[in-house]
Amino acid sequence: MKIINFGSLNIDIFFRVNHIVRPGETISAQSIERRAGGKGLNQSIALIKNYDKVYHAGSVGMDGSFLKEYLAGEGIDTRYIKESSSSTGNAIIQVDDNGENSIVLYKGANFDNDRAFIDEVLENFDKDDVLVLQNEINNMDYIIDKAFRKGMKIVLNPSPITDEVKDFDLDKIDLLLVNETEALEISACEGIEEIISSFKEKYPNLKVVITLGSKGSVYIDKENRIYQDAYKVNAVDSTGAGDTFTGYFVAEFYQNKDIKQCLKLATKASALSVTKKGASISIPSIEEVEKFNGEN
Ligand code: RIB
Repeated sequence: MKIINFGSLNIDIFFRVNHIVRPGETISAQSIERRAGGKGLNQSIALIKNYDKVYHAGSVGMDGSFLKEYLAGEGIDTRYIKESSSSTGNAIIQVDDNGENSIVLYKGANFDNDRAFIDEVLENFDKDDVLVLQNEINNMDYIIDKAFRKGMKIVLNPSPITDEVKDFDLDKIDLLLVNETEALEISACEGIEEIISSFKEKYPNLKVVITLGSKGSVYIDKENRIYQDAYKVNAVDSTGAGDTFTGYFVAEFYQNKDIKQCLKLATKASALSVTKKGASISIPSIEEVEKFNGEN
């Protein structure tokens, strides 16, 4: 089994601030750091920590070759990352004293994945393989359709949520990973019980993980509903915590591990990531995750 993540690659500019800037306000940052990021890139890093055959596909500009080198250095196959004439995607990230963030995205080269390139990439994968997607690249519905026709298992983490996501055909998705807000938007329901019933009724074969912040997470499929509590940690920077959860969960899940174990491992990994600064650089190793004995 190969895991191919067709996803964004961003240059993250982190501003450490006392509080997130308010409309009309000008504030000074305590520090500024430039790092490798993007939901796609972060999830590939989390995947490779827990599985060894990970490919990343996507586009960067000439200013983004360091992102490709970084992924390759971590053991990810980068042959399907192309260079486009646009500048690389950027994220301006403010992180406040509580570790909360606020992000402004510039899509840049992340929207330069044309159909010919998508065809060329997916030609190398088949029904035994898993495709991982977030919502920071273009031509998403084309990629989903193409991979579905090949019989691939498709994982969708529709972050950041947009109106287009509501038109994606979830019958083609094997595993959907969403937070509570995204689940509410996609299902157009109110409250977690209603969301769960709606997913089960409309998409009986869809497996869903809903992350519930400090309340933990829940996995739902036809037969199961499995809960996992969150771990209490000292939050320094929550950027990339969701990506860490997704990457760890997906790698574990498609290695056919027990679902409770998948949720536990992903929850531990994302809790640990919050205790460090940055997005991809805060993703812990599998050894660190297995050693972690946090309190729920
Ligand atoms: O999920 C965190 C990521 O969101 C950051 O790395 C940033 O690039 C944005 O895409």
